[in-house]
Amino acid sequence: METAVRMRGITKSFGPVRALEGVDLDLRRGEVLALLGDNGAGKSTLVKILSGVHPADGGVLEIQGQPVDWRRHDVASARLRGVETVHQERSIGEKQPLWRNVFVGRHLKNSLGFIDARREREETKRLLSDVIGLKGAGMHPDARAATLSGGERQGLAIARALYFRAPILVLDEPTTALGAGEAEQVLSFVERLREEGHSCLLVSHELHHVHRVADRFALLERGRVAEVLERSRTSLSALADRLLLGSRGGA
Ligand SMILES: Nc1ncnc2c1ncn2[C@@H]1O[C@H](COP(=O)(O)OP(=O)(O)O)[C@@H](O)[C@H]1O
Ligand SMILES: [Mg+2]
Repeated sequence: METAVRMRGITKSFGPVRALEGVDLDLRRGEVLALLGDNGAGKSTLVKILSGVHPADGGVLEIQGQPVDWRRHDVASARLRGVETVHQERSIGEKQPLWRNVFVGRHLKNSLGFIDARREREETKRLLSDVIGLKGAGMHPDARAATLSGGERQGLAIARALYFRAPILVLDEPTTALGAGEAEQVLSFVERLREEGHSCLLVSHELHHVHRVADRFALLERGRVAEVLERSRTSLSALADRLLLGSRGGA
């Protein structure tokens, strides 16, 4: 199956606000697709529909070839279908230790069916050091998430997705408000995900970041996909020009 996610005619309103007005979009298998657009264009709403936070009002969503029934679409069922999301708003529990953050909602159980906290701690330790290479002094399983830097938090959330081998990863503005070094770390996680064959929908305002890691760029304007550009045919400056055109209400 070529397509990880297929969206056709997705609409969503919040009261009188038409956030999405018929979105057609495909996320291919093994690609990084950037979702670009002005504030209020509907990017986070689309992310939330894909990840089961909201149902759409109408349209078709297929995840790995399976059509979604809006009446049964929630975060748990989106996860079961392979969608792991790092939301724009906080996606980790600040007061919880790291190991609890990794396994919340998906515990490792022992043979008696109880939560195996020891194994969860050990797995978290391995995940932090071997899988994502976060070796800072504060990165131990019992550290509280509140003590992590912004980049480490994004790293933890991405690590969780890697651990559960989610085929589809959705990142909503993962590098916003990060320092250059931390953003670099997040971008290299994304590159690694693609190398391992995951598909990634990446929402970002930072054009030099998305131009580096994305295969295609989808431009969302007032709740519709205005254009999808291939990286191989679009320079960074052409991409910037095209976005400027959109936000002036042109094209
Ligand atoms: N839960 C909500 N309730 C009411 N309006 C919302 C809600 N979520 C988003 N909106 C509105 O939908 C539009 C699209 O928002 P959003 O998807 O967050 O845009 P973006 O992520 O592209 O900045 C905006 O006008 C926003 O105010
Ligand atoms: Mg947003």
